[in-house]
Amino acid sequence: MHFPRWYVSNLTCPMLIALVATIHVFVSMYAVGGGIYLASETSYAYKCNNNSLLEYLRSHSLFFILLTVVFGTITGVGIWWTIGLTSPLATESLIHIFVFGWAMEYVFFVLEITSAFIFYYYWGRLGPKVHKTVGWIYAVSAWISLVLITGITAFQLDIGSWMPEKGMWAAFFSPQTFPQIIARTGASLLMASLYIFLHASVKLRHDTELRFLVGTKAAKWGMAGATLVTLGGIWWYANLPQSGKDALQAASALQVLTIIVFAASIVVFSMLFFGPYRNPAWITPGFAILFFLIGIAATGTGEVFRESTRKPYIIYNYVVGNNVLIKEIPGLKQDGYLNGGIWTKAFMKAHYPGVFDESGNIDSQKLLQLPKADQIKVGRAIFQYHCNDCHSVRGFSSVIELTRGWTPQMISTVILNLDAAHFFMPPWQGTEQEADLLTRYIASLSLAHPPGMEFGAASAHDLPQYSFPDMTHATKGVLR
Ligand code: HEC
Repeated sequence: MHFPRWYVSNLTCPMLIALVATIHVFVSMYAVGGGIYLASETSYAYKCNNNSLLEYLRSHSLFFILLTVVFGTITGVGIWWTIGLTSPLATESLIHIFVFGWAMEYVFFVLEITSAFIFYYYWGRLGPKVHKTVGWIYAVSAWISLVLITGITAFQLDIGSWMPEKGMWAAFFSPQTFPQIIARTGASLLMASLYIFLHASVKLRHDTELRFLVGTKAAKWGMAGATLVTLGGIWWYANLPQSGKDALQAASALQVLTIIVFAASIVVFSMLFFGPYRNPAWITPGFAILFFLIGIAATGTGEVFRESTRKPYIIYNYVVGNNVLIKEIPGLKQDGYLNGGIWTKAFMKAHYPGVFDESGNIDSQKLLQLPKADQIKVGRAIFQYHCNDCHSVRGFSSVIELTRGWTPQMISTVILNLDAAHFFMPPWQGTEQEADLLTRYIASLSLAHPPGMEFGAASAHDLPQYSFPDMTHATKGVLR
């Protein structure tokens, strides 16, 4: 409530986060899985004195560092920017709850980057033992940073019985943490194997023997990864809070996604087994690219899937989707949504000083005395603070499309009963008068039914004269 709004037109903020975060995850998973792969394969190559394998691993390390350290770091910072702008309250809460966790995360991150550079740039200059150790320092610190981030993001999904007094570790070990660590470690190994196929199919196209060796070994990592993903996924689902399960059940798009995720996992596993593992000759650039795309689709869908179970919260049971602490809601309902936030109040003060009472608070009754055009403008401000985190005006989950053909009564009913209309939504957090203004704004945008679909329905468009304040009385007794 105490932060300025940020509207990402057409896309909505969470979708922007999802976009940046998913791109980041593709690379950060490789950073973890690839680290384990490089450390263990380098140890193997030193043990067998296999110089051509060592030479290959060296060239793979450069590819690895360029992608993970450069691209991964930029997109990682990108996540901080987007979450900070879109969900300042949730970001602030996560920073405060996990101060020490973030400190650890940064220490391991520095360790990760330093050891990655030493591993590559000191190749051949360090003895095998020291070189292997540096590789393992990288692998372990990258994995620990995965564990730390997973603990923090898992907490967002299910805070269990956590309360602020219980402190950081109680928050960290939430019911979702372990299943997600397993699933993500698996996904990291799986993603790493896809990058290895991609790189090896081009780099080793003239060296069949080495390509086969690299391919079969990478396939083993990939199959181990796919198994962990499945086990972690099942455990995750079993531990999901009921609201998360219901959110999956209720959304038809998510049901389709569930099927896609499982189908893609089976396809990837069989392709690994019958492809690179049994028939390494399959590893051609075309196969590797196709495989990579399937892997990205499966991981991307899995991430979207995980995120979707979070609504209506940003932090489960703590911060709701429009950046309001749960404990703030009763006060907002009582004294008004616009009155409750620094920025909404400043907006009203600057544009509509007449609606304030002597004590400097917004008098909701006075809102209805504003000219109609201004009521719509105030309604727009309410939309921008209360709804824009999940709905765009036009575009993703567009409020215009969702209310197509609706009458103002229908719009008002849903607004006053947001959480009942859809448990994905937080409860309505304003006064009835504010709900009227928001209704007026949405009705001013609403589209009529598509031509030929009217069936005589009266839509918001057909009722320009509709008297809004009356409607509040009409709906009152019936609806609440
Ligand atoms: C935490 C996210 C979130 C917030 C905040 C939110 N909604 Fe929704 N809303 C949803 C979801 C999810 C749906 C289901 C439709 C979809 O997926 O696009 C939905 C559906 C709707 C529908 C269609 C309901 C139906 O039964 O067809 C309307 C109308 C609507 N929202 C209006 C609003 C308004 C107005 C606000 C602000 C006061 C708001 N929403 C705030 C997530 C949210």
